[in-house]
Amino acid sequence: MLAIIGGSGLTQLANLDISHREVVRTPYGEPSGPLTLGRICERPVVFLARHGYGHTIPPHRVNYRANLWALKQAGATMVVSVASVGSIRADLGPGVLVIPDQIIDYTWGRKSTFHDTEEDQVVHIDFTEPYDAALRQSLLNAAKESGEEVHDGGVYAATQGPRLETAAEVNRLERDGADVVGMTGMPEAALARELDLPYAAINVVANFAAGRADSAHGIQFSEIEPTLRHAMGRVRRVITQLCYLPETH
Ligand code: HPA
Repeated sequence: MLAIIGGSGLTQLANLDISHREVVRTPYGEPSGPLTLGRICERPVVFLARHGYGHTIPPHRVNYRANLWALKQAGATMVVSVASVGSIRADLGPGVLVIPDQIIDYTWGRKSTFHDTEEDQVVHIDFTEPYDAALRQSLLNAAKESGEEVHDGGVYAATQGPRLETAAEVNRLERDGADVVGMTGMPEAALARELDLPYAAINVVANFAAGRADSAHGIQFSEIEPTLRHAMGRVRRVITQLCYLPETH
């Protein structure tokens, strides 16, 4: 079953034909909210709003472990994460959809593994390619079929938040090789890998990162909401198309 984790601007999936909601308890505490189960064009889908349905949970307080665990327990076999980002690159403006292929993790103090008890064996997952290649390809195919342009590839920098970056921090991210910056991609991707859940992301550029382009002197929040609203419509179309494609997992 396909799981969708929705970020800012995507607290529900309008195209999801809902059958029921499920409150899942996990050994890691409460997920961000009840899971919403249903179908998109006959295909079973489970949806979870990462920041809660009322958008009340900031990135550093999201219980990423409970979220991934709950989705797996509900029968998810793959996870598509939708997350808004700031763009570090001049050619990726607000509204652009990016299917990233790499991650740099700058977060700290988050519970980033399921293997942290003293009785546990030490576990080092392979994370060379943080996103699942087949699921990424399915997203690219779905975008093509639905006529939605997406940018193939990019390095996602995961920052701690909840504050936005300084201009100098964005310059550093660029020197490190990052293309977009967000606050929720980690540890989510790594936890999915620990649970053997293929994971890929659709990043929605909400704004230019601090110090860049029209964010040279500050981030223009007034423009973010309409940009996200329009872009999330496109994300929904890609997801709908993804559900029409044959399952790869
Ligand atoms: N920085 C970090 N996270 C974000 C941004 C940003 O500029 N925009 C949307 N999420």
